[in-house]
Amino acid sequence: METEVKKLEEEFGKDLSGVCDALGIEALRVKYLGRKAEINRLFSMVPSLSKEAKGIWGKNLNILKNKISLAIEEKLKSLGTKEEKIDLTYPAARLEKGSRHILSAVSEEICSVFEKLGFTVVEGTEIEDEWHNFSALNIPLDHPSRDAFDTFYLDIPQPQEKHRGKFLLRSHTSPSQARVMSVSKPPLAVISPGRVYRPDAVDASHSFMFHQVEGFAIDKNINFAHLKGVLLNFVKLFFSPDVNLRFRPHFFPFTEPSAEVDISCFICKGKKDKCSLCKGKGWLEILGCGMIHPKVLENCGIDSKKYKGFAFGMGVERPAMLKYGINDIRLFYENDVKFLEQF
Ligand code: DAH
Repeated sequence: METEVKKLEEEFGKDLSGVCDALGIEALRVKYLGRKAEINRLFSMVPSLSKEAKGIWGKNLNILKNKISLAIEEKLKSLGTKEEKIDLTYPAARLEKGSRHILSAVSEEICSVFEKLGFTVVEGTEIEDEWHNFSALNIPLDHPSRDAFDTFYLDIPQPQEKHRGKFLLRSHTSPSQARVMSVSKPPLAVISPGRVYRPDAVDASHSFMFHQVEGFAIDKNINFAHLKGVLLNFVKLFFSPDVNLRFRPHFFPFTEPSAEVDISCFICKGKKDKCSLCKGKGWLEILGCGMIHPKVLENCGIDSKKYKGFAFGMGVERPAMLKYGINDIRLFYENDVKFLEQF
């Protein structure tokens, strides 16, 4: 007993002299006076000592316990008086603040513009199946995008329902359309952001994982003018009020008619001359869109004679790069704080 008490007293003395702030004192209090403190173990040994020793060690332990709590109190007080002498002219330590990742912020910004236009955010799933990613969207079985060079198939047991095919990492956010349509009735106006995956070699403008935002609206009398109006509002709110739109005919299996959309270059304002952003074209491609193909509506249980819809899909990285003058997509994923903290 004697050596153990001595050891405890010495250890406390050492610990006490090493403590220099309130947090350290609190840790000391927990260690020496808390529920699991060594002194409690020593107290619990007292009843098993001889009658004479019981009296001595009970008393000694109580003295030590009082000593410890007094020393702790005094140390706390001495710190308090030190803190009163704080030099208010001394520059404060810089507080490092974290912030949202630029891609999350841009994706949310895109969605919030569409929310203002009456759309509701619905997130799809990153692990998809062939039916939602391709078949429901009228993408034929022999379409090259189904190839393993263009889609990551997952080496896991397949869905039980045969028509759903294999599991995969979604290669676009368009399957969100099929998911929402299959469980909800029009009128619908949905915006769906998220990660997508394609086995692309990584370079300044490609990554095997990137982000997209999908949007669509379905109702009885939806037409192409609604699509144009919504997208025009979007680009003016997201990029700049003086930005204009241009639709170019295109093909997507899930829309008919389909179009690709360009915005007028907001750096050279369409003047083209030696513009580093649009490379003298005056226009920047930002998204694909069209009227939802009747087969897609039917595949998802919506009567295509009664309802029409428009849909569009855009990347998040590209608008972010255009808006913030970022010239290499890899910067988004390298977790370089110097890059990220600028936004
Ligand atoms: N899913 C297309 C892609 O990843 C983008 C897209 C184009 C989505 C046209 C649409 C659309 O909804 O109508 O390239």
